[in-house]
Amino acid sequence: MSDRHLLDIDRLGDEDIERMLQRACALAAGGEPARVDSTMANLFYEPSTRTRVSFELAAARLGMRVVNIELERSSATKGETLEDTAATLAAMDVDSIVLRHPESRRVERLAEHVPGLKLVNAGDGTHAHPSQALLDAATLRARGVALSGLKLAIIGDIRHSRVAGSGVSLWQRLGVAEIRLAGPHALLPDRPPAPAASLHDNLADAVRGADVVMMLRVQHERMDRAGWPDRDAYFADWGLKESDLAGAAPDCLVMHPGPINRGMEIDAAVADGERSLILDQVKMGVFTRMAIFEWLFEG
Ligand code: CP
Repeated sequence: MSDRHLLDIDRLGDEDIERMLQRACALAAGGEPARVDSTMANLFYEPSTRTRVSFELAAARLGMRVVNIELERSSATKGETLEDTAATLAAMDVDSIVLRHPESRRVERLAEHVPGLKLVNAGDGTHAHPSQALLDAATLRARGVALSGLKLAIIGDIRHSRVAGSGVSLWQRLGVAEIRLAGPHALLPDRPPAPAASLHDNLADAVRGADVVMMLRVQHERMDRAGWPDRDAYFADWGLKESDLAGAAPDCLVMHPGPINRGMEIDAAVADGERSLILDQVKMGVFTRMAIFEWLFEG
């Protein structure tokens, strides 16, 4: 049997997605975790709080052994390649690597070189962040929100967002009726990336009648032009304020994968307000990553 990996949503079957979403919700509702007798290593070539810690906590709750590689103290600083680092960890009986990397598709390229290791993509460049997409869907499902027929607005830096990349694939698969992608022209893709997706050049159009509004972080670290976009100008046009939600569905929910830039893509009052699911997403991140490990090691 070939190694099982979590590389992106497109590589998963419908039954895999359903299994992980159901399991995440069951675990969040108090379900008994499986015991997973394995060792995983967190290997993050980019900063992270939510993803790294939640994979560590998820593994601990399943009884897994966890190794956190501190990159700046690792032999990567002496020129060791990612392939050699992965092979070295495998030689010490590490079974899986949770990898974040600034290069798009770096995780799937590594998968071709390290047979026997199970890889989890924890975010690769501007390409994919599948565990974030799964936890976002699980967050809505756990609240009883019907995804089929949902009107979802995703706002901000769509072009550079791996969250949007994996998210749009998953929302489309789960039957979301409208996926409205909105942002400044330079931060939008050239064309809608899925049949249910549409592109919008102003926030009000995207939010009108929306059941869920997901704000995205401005990816300063992936911008080409220094100092752009201007924080105040961006907030004026694209930052989500309470007044913007007047045109949304009455019980509209607000999501953000984090980390948030308060006063840039979202007003603090909205981030901390009653509609906000931001910390629910973080909590569901641990249960979803438990479900991912159970799926990765099943059988
Ligand atoms: N959402 C997300 O990936 O957050 P971190 O960068 O903190 O892991």
